[in-house]
Amino acid sequence: MFGIKHPIACAAMGPFRTTELAVAVSDAGGLGMISHTNVSMDGYEQNDIDALKKNIDFVVEHTNKPFGFNIRTSRNEVGCDELISETSKHIMANPKLREQCIYALTSAGSARRMPQNKDFQKLRESTQIKHFHVAPALWLADKCVAAGCDGLVVTGFEGGGHQSYEKVASLVLLQQVQQKHPDIPKIACGGFATGGGMAAALTLGAGGIAMGSRFIASKDSEFHENYKNVVPLAKASDTLVRTGILGTIRLWRNKYALAKGLVKSKEEKMIEEKELSDHRIAISKEELAEELRKDAIAAFAAYQGDMENGAVLLGQSIGIINQVESVSDIIETIINDAEKTLKKAITFVE
Ligand SMILES: Cc1cc2nc3c(=O)[nH]c(=O)nc-3n(C[C@H](O)[C@H](O)[C@H](O)COP(=O)(O)O)c2cc1C
Repeated sequence: MFGIKHPIACAAMGPFRTTELAVAVSDAGGLGMISHTNVSMDGYEQNDIDALKKNIDFVVEHTNKPFGFNIRTSRNEVGCDELISETSKHIMANPKLREQCIYALTSAGSARRMPQNKDFQKLRESTQIKHFHVAPALWLADKCVAAGCDGLVVTGFEGGGHQSYEKVASLVLLQQVQQKHPDIPKIACGGFATGGGMAAALTLGAGGIAMGSRFIASKDSEFHENYKNVVPLAKASDTLVRTGILGTIRLWRNKYALAKGLVKSKEEKMIEEKELSDHRIAISKEELAEELRKDAIAAFAAYQGDMENGAVLLGQSIGIINQVESVSDIIETIINDAEKTLKKAITFVE
């Protein structure tokens, strides 16, 4: 589908810049991913249209291989439709981008927003671009299929960063989605970092895997050395799920994570949001924006190396990652191990 050598994609990791990582993953035969960088380091909204165009141009200037980009389509993402339009037009205008930028991933909101966009429709008709949406629960996979997505990124609860309230782990989620939607292409995500994990994903019906934490802990990622170095020493039990202003989030256990609110059910969160929105009328919009800004500042603090007060987004897969390596070594090892694992596995059923 993507013309890549190895079925390994980099997961989306906004609001951070992951363009050098994208180049490294694409050059190593995987599928690089440009993340949605909608806020600046000081937590203020940044012009995400210019940022995404700039990042796309950087990647296409540094690799001749296929790659993709992420846009979060949550109702909290102001100007999301314009971002989809402008990005589609930008790709359309450049023949090299039309060839290489062939993976549009939406997440954290409606799966319909991209396919309904007129500029994206034109791009889709005249290029090989494929639209995938992140499905962290079966009912969300149903919505993606109904929206006409070309494929799904099936992301289980082990994963780093934002999570669904359903709390279903990748192993079961993949099987659920495979049972109900056997024919739609799937990328397995959340908890994958080894060849064994990849072999499991392929046998459960995925065509490939996407990894976030594994690629953070690579020599090629833009994350701070302190962030990377947390990973090899950490155990699988060293993450916590907390409720942030935008929902449930999996973080590495540090001072920041421990001080954050405990995970709530969707119902509790909805009551809290209702109270918050009533409160919003009483408080100024600026005060609300300030809450979002604090989350962004904490995320960037970690990205820049503050491992105590920063929000260190990582998944349970940190328990199976033992070294910071180059992206090409990571991909090569995973592919070789997956092949060995699959060959051995078949002997058990022959
Ligand atoms: C630092 C970080 C930032 C993330 N930001 C995004 C994002 O902007 N959009 C998105 O769809 N997922 C985001 N995620 C989730 C990842 O795309 C992916 O689901 C997760 O990393 C998979 O779990 P793994 O870390 O075990 O590989 C983020 C994850 C991390 C670790």
